[in-house]
Amino acid sequence: MSKLLVTGGAGFIGSNFVHHVMAHTDDQVVVLDKLTYAGNLASLEGLPENRYEFVKGDICDRELVDDLVSKVDTVVHFAAESHNDNSLNNPEPFITTNLYGTFSLLEAVRAHDKRYHHISTDEVYGDLELDDPDKFHETTPYKPSSPYSSSKAGSDHLVRAWARSFGVRATISNCSNNYGPRQHVEKFIPRQVTNVIDGIRPKLYGQGLNVRDWIHVDDHNSAVLRILEAGEIGETYLIGANGEKDNKTVIELILSEMGQPADAYDHVNDRPGHDMRYAIDSTKLRTELGWQPKYNNFETGLAATIEWYRANEGWWRPQKAAVEAKYAAQGQ
Ligand code: NAD
Ligand code: DAU
Repeated sequence: MSKLLVTGGAGFIGSNFVHHVMAHTDDQVVVLDKLTYAGNLASLEGLPENRYEFVKGDICDRELVDDLVSKVDTVVHFAAESHNDNSLNNPEPFITTNLYGTFSLLEAVRAHDKRYHHISTDEVYGDLELDDPDKFHETTPYKPSSPYSSSKAGSDHLVRAWARSFGVRATISNCSNNYGPRQHVEKFIPRQVTNVIDGIRPKLYGQGLNVRDWIHVDDHNSAVLRILEAGEIGETYLIGANGEKDNKTVIELILSEMGQPADAYDHVNDRPGHDMRYAIDSTKLRTELGWQPKYNNFETGLAATIEWYRANEGWWRPQKAAVEAKYAAQGQ
């Protein structure tokens, strides 16, 4: 049994990770989360009280972080400002949380010699052409496009520097686009699903030819657990499940699953600097650590996700109107 500090545990992937850890290990979990607009305590309901503790706080608070890190065995760092569109409107919190916040955690794990796992994104590699036969792999050069992805790229570099210069026992994972329950309604799939529930037409940026490599959040989290169990210190692992789909296809699948005509969506303003395609080669994770995804059918996982949003309106409703007002103001 081990004690984990999970940063950003009230967010989408972090909260699903905490539920996953409770179901699949004997570990104790301390969640550190600032509860920004993206954090939701309702995502952590139903956890066993004797194995879980919640601390509301900022990863940039060096004293708090140092104290919490000193009391655990391992830090799993999910907390971030995570939405590209927000980073284009106001980059500052991305720089503070994603860069200074990571620095704060690294200094604490260095001081207390704790194991550290860093959650990152495939967006650090920039984008691929639609017809490029290649995918991202662990040695692809960094070429981030947005304030979000460049702040994540910078945080990855900090981790590697702390590992090499100070011997911090770190691993990094870079994952592709997650879908599943408890994702904020600002993100692509939850936004369209809740739009349809509300009788609003889904909104497709530009022509919708951009490709994302979708993975179910539970598959991301099973990979993170596997890396914690067996990952080699100092290594990076790419996490992906061969789920490439263009955005137009995803909207059409949502409409079909929700009983709407395939063309019942609007084209809206494109995202500035919009990355064209992400695609992950996860051979290293599969061959060296024996990891396999469980959700191999996107349509089935999507249907379950739609069902979750139908059944949990109370979870997303408080955010919906403000998110749509913000998008409407920028023609999206
Ligand atoms: P999210 O926005 O849903 O959740 C982020 C959480 O971090 C929230 O609970 C928020 O309150 C918390 N947080 C933000 N700033 C904080 C601070 N300064 N101190 C403490 N807590 C703070 O994000 P997500 O989609 O769950 O992403 C989690 C991690 O996974 C991020 O590091 C992101 O870069 C990475 N990632 C996400 C995806 C994806 O598809 N969503 C894919 C690959 C990697
Ligand atoms: O690749 C991993 C990344 O995936 C993570 O690092 C990010 O944290 C996560 O937010 C996600 O980034 P994207 O920018 O790819 O996700 P988003 O859900 O914002 O958009 C997915 C695609 O859908 C993208 O091409 C933009 C498009 N889109 C998005 C919205 C919100 C639309 O066409 N319409 C929309 O309304």
